[in-house]
Amino acid sequence: MKKTIKYLQDKKNNKKMITVLASYDYPTTILLEKAEIDIIILGDSVGTNILGYDNETQVTLNDMLHHTRAVKRGIKKIFLVVDMPYKTHETPREAVKNAKKLIDNGADAVKYEGIKENILIALKENNIKVMTHIGLNPQYDQEYMKQGKITKGKTFEEAKRIIEGAKYLERAGADLIILEKIPEKIAKIITENINIPTIGIGAGRYCDGQVLVINDIIGLNQKKYKHVKEYINLHDLLLDVIIKYKNDVESKIFPSEENINLIKVDELIKIKEWCLEKGYLV
Ligand code: KIV
Repeated sequence: MKKTIKYLQDKKNNKKMITVLASYDYPTTILLEKAEIDIIILGDSVGTNILGYDNETQVTLNDMLHHTRAVKRGIKKIFLVVDMPYKTHETPREAVKNAKKLIDNGADAVKYEGIKENILIALKENNIKVMTHIGLNPQYDQEYMKQGKITKGKTFEEAKRIIEGAKYLERAGADLIILEKIPEKIAKIITENINIPTIGIGAGRYCDGQVLVINDIIGLNQKKYKHVKEYINLHDLLLDVIIKYKNDVESKIFPSEENINLIKVDELIKIKEWCLEKGYLV
């Protein structure tokens, strides 16, 4: 059965954790389906993790549409949330137009960063499911991040703004909410005081669900973060495999007998005779 907002809401109501990964492509989607993950967030972190961009603000709507189609091809039950990239939802009209494109290409819901009440109201009026994203907002916090800061909500004023923001977003109709890199105690207050599911990333243990980025948990990202649990170091394993392959090719160990295609002897005789006629080497 395809997962829906109701399914995710029931999980919160029944105190069952919602499992979420940010990922970007077809083969990974197949794996996430086999593992019965609840939500894929096709985040704008695709920019830094897959496309080699410097930061999230360089990601375009076309990038997201291209990856949405790839992920969608692998989706069976997972609920797919796709990020609205930077400057693609500046006005309600623009937000609705671009969100509809993402939905038409396979998203079940769109996600945008910040409070932006007029954007949320317009999306909801158009029956679009919305995940909002508060706390650290990489699309708007690049300067803050360049100063080496990542946690939001550590002062009374900032924590109050984030809690009030979450309450507002719930009232305005958000379906789900990401809490990124805020103190655990603030995430707990939010989770216990709103009815929609909270999904935490670097927001501690008390959210209704947890999200991490696939590249981080498999060790493909060379940057290491405190909030991540790295389960395997695929970077080192893959590098080892690639070097082995290179060495095999250079030393002519690959391809071997088991990798080659054969031709029947009579056909080979004919082709050799034809080559001789042509003056080709055989
Ligand atoms: O882009 C991203 O990876 C995100 C995460 C919070 C899921 O927005």
